[in-house]
Amino acid sequence: MEIHSNIPLKNFTTMKLGGNARFMTEVRTPEEVVEAYHSAKAQSLPVFVLGGGSNVIAKDEGFNGLIIHMRIPGFSVIADDLNSTTIQIGAGEDWDSVVKRTVDMRLSGIEAMSAIPGTAGAAPVQNIGAYGQEIADTLESLVAYDTQTDSFVTLLNENCEFSYRQSIFRSSQVGRYIIVSITLKLSKNLPQPPFYEALQAYFDQRDVHIFTVDTVRNAVIDIRANKLPDPKLLPNAGSFFKNAIIEDWQIADLKNANPDMPTYDMGDGRFKIPAGWLIEQTGLKGKVLHGMRVNDKNALVLINESATGYQDLAAARDEIISAVRDKFKIQLEQEPLEV
Ligand code: EPU
Repeated sequence: MEIHSNIPLKNFTTMKLGGNARFMTEVRTPEEVVEAYHSAKAQSLPVFVLGGGSNVIAKDEGFNGLIIHMRIPGFSVIADDLNSTTIQIGAGEDWDSVVKRTVDMRLSGIEAMSAIPGTAGAAPVQNIGAYGQEIADTLESLVAYDTQTDSFVTLLNENCEFSYRQSIFRSSQVGRYIIVSITLKLSKNLPQPPFYEALQAYFDQRDVHIFTVDTVRNAVIDIRANKLPDPKLLPNAGSFFKNAIIEDWQIADLKNANPDMPTYDMGDGRFKIPAGWLIEQTGLKGKVLHGMRVNDKNALVLINESATGYQDLAAARDEIISAVRDKFKIQLEQEPLEV
């Protein structure tokens, strides 16, 4: 295991800003994870696990510890029955390559999450989701190194406490587990309409009535390409804010004041309000704040055009949060993690 020092985090995060990490190492096996973790602890250094860096923002002061760059490969069928196939995937695999392979195998369950940047191991951390699917729907279990007990553990879906863009890995147990593989149970049945609104509209416009995992994947890739900036060309971290979650007692007043406001019933007495819509109403869509552009196709995404560092991003973020709070009394939350 090679440990490198003084690594610019801007080269490892798709937002392309922030300072340097003191140390970084690539891990390709679960054993290397343990080795890396032990070596950091021997020097009393904190550890941060980095996948594709597409949902991580680096601070200007950098990271005074060891970045474990997750590169563990793996894709193996571990069970198969009449209706489903179960696949174990290494945490370092590129998420979209995994989706492509499962689609090529005619398996359904993650095809609507096509073209999401990042790694398989990062997917459960924020419970990635798009176009009506989230990883919590198909994740059977995962294997993680438990830094508290110094052993590998299998966590079942219910142990991860998934909810909208949330899990124990970014709430109650931050830093405790290092995910080394995930196990997905995918269906052999064809995807069924009705689909998520934007996807269904795409099919309706094109008169598509026969749905395969391929048609769903291709549609999602097309929709995303038109709406979401490619991080390879325009530095960004996908949705920069979580959609707002509102309790039912607040919704009537908001709806009265804003009859056009889109709302999604979460079925548990709460409603989701698209943060992109809220930001658009403040007039900030398409504007540049401190070198960060509020994407003109989807106000939820911030593009780093000329920010000089994290400070600029934080200033832009805080202005957007204040503008939404002033207009709607709704507090937006940042979606990407910070190192
Ligand atoms: N909207 C606006 N203005 C905007 C953006 C959106 O009015 O600037 C409205 C849309 O018209 C629509 C609603 O907001 O009525 C929802 O928009 P959309 O379906 O595009 O989804 P989103 O809420 O913007 C979420 C996820 C995306 C995911 C899409 C599709 C979050 C934080 N974001 O975005 O995930 O791809 O749904 O399912 O939940 C990501 O997490 O990085 C990400 C891109």
